[in-house]
Amino acid sequence: MEGVIDAPMRRLLTGLGGYSRCVTEFIRVTTVLLPEKVFLRLCPELETDGQTESGVPVYTQLLGSNAQCLAANARRAVELGAPGVDLNFGCPAKTVNNSLGGSILLREPQKVASIVRAVRDAVPAEVPVTAKIRLGYDNSDALAEIVQGVREAGATELAIHARTKFDGYKPPAWWAEVASVVQPDDNMTYINGEIWNVDDSVRARLASGCRHLMLGRGALAAPDLALRIRAAAAGQAPLAPMAWLDISQHVEAQFLRSDSQSPRHVGNRTKQWLAYLKRTYPEANELFARLRTLRDVNAMVAAFAEHRRAVSPDRLA
Ligand SMILES: Cc1cc2nc3c(=O)[nH]c(=O)nc-3n(C[C@H](O)[C@H](O)[C@H](O)COP(=O)(O)O)c2cc1C
Repeated sequence: MEGVIDAPMRRLLTGLGGYSRCVTEFIRVTTVLLPEKVFLRLCPELETDGQTESGVPVYTQLLGSNAQCLAANARRAVELGAPGVDLNFGCPAKTVNNSLGGSILLREPQKVASIVRAVRDAVPAEVPVTAKIRLGYDNSDALAEIVQGVREAGATELAIHARTKFDGYKPPAWWAEVASVVQPDDNMTYINGEIWNVDDSVRARLASGCRHLMLGRGALAAPDLALRIRAAAAGQAPLAPMAWLDISQHVEAQFLRSDSQSPRHVGNRTKQWLAYLKRTYPEANELFARLRTLRDVNAMVAAFAEHRRAVSPDRLA
């Protein structure tokens, strides 16, 4: 997810478990073959076999509308070590849609299919080519045509964010609309959108008929969610959500590892992450309030310690 789930976050999330695959933030492709450094910046895992530290493959995501150029860049990603290529037809951002990339392409199902076909043909057959779509642009009338085109073009997997571009990120996600394009033996379609807890995952699967699911913001709001969803799906006893004090240790470690170096942006990603964590953990509000105006690394480290003292259940009365 652009600006929020980067390599350090992928490392943390996959380290906690439950994930079988990650996709990078999108790499925008216009009309040029991008230099190696662009791929490595957005996917440093290319230097470690295309996997996170815990061995979860990271597919490189491309976004654009020029089929031949996307194909050439997909080939380059694979040559650099990408274990798979994902194509983004879901991004609703104006700047992206203005340059004819992302969800605007959903208005042209044949164009979507031709892009998938070009990329499929450009990389070795054993390398997965996956796609990410929404229900449609301003309505879901073309969903069946889009999905059929993507499948016939040879996509290995398809993730469907169950909202139109017009819906943006406004709840709800229309999981049941996806059911019309999922066959009983379907093993390639992933349901995505508004899955924030285990209960949502059960309802999303049931409503859509999808066996698999993809997490977006839910992974940031509850870093152990994938693990708990897997346990529930396997019929195991429910796993207790991670305690806030453990989560806050991860937040601090993540801050020190990857969000404290750039002087102009110290703590920005941490604060952004806390905004998602607030959804699951009310304590994140307290920490956010302490960090909000701070820019200095030492002051922030002190604030983490003060926060833990304030919310610790065994603090002195
Ligand atoms: C800040 C932000 C950045 C995102 N960046 C990407 C991206 O780079 N590639 C992508 O396929 N989806 C991206 N998405 C969409 C998510 O992957 C996901 O489809 C969407 O948020 C719906 O799922 P959710 O309700 O579980 O978050 C982004 C979403 C947000 C909120």
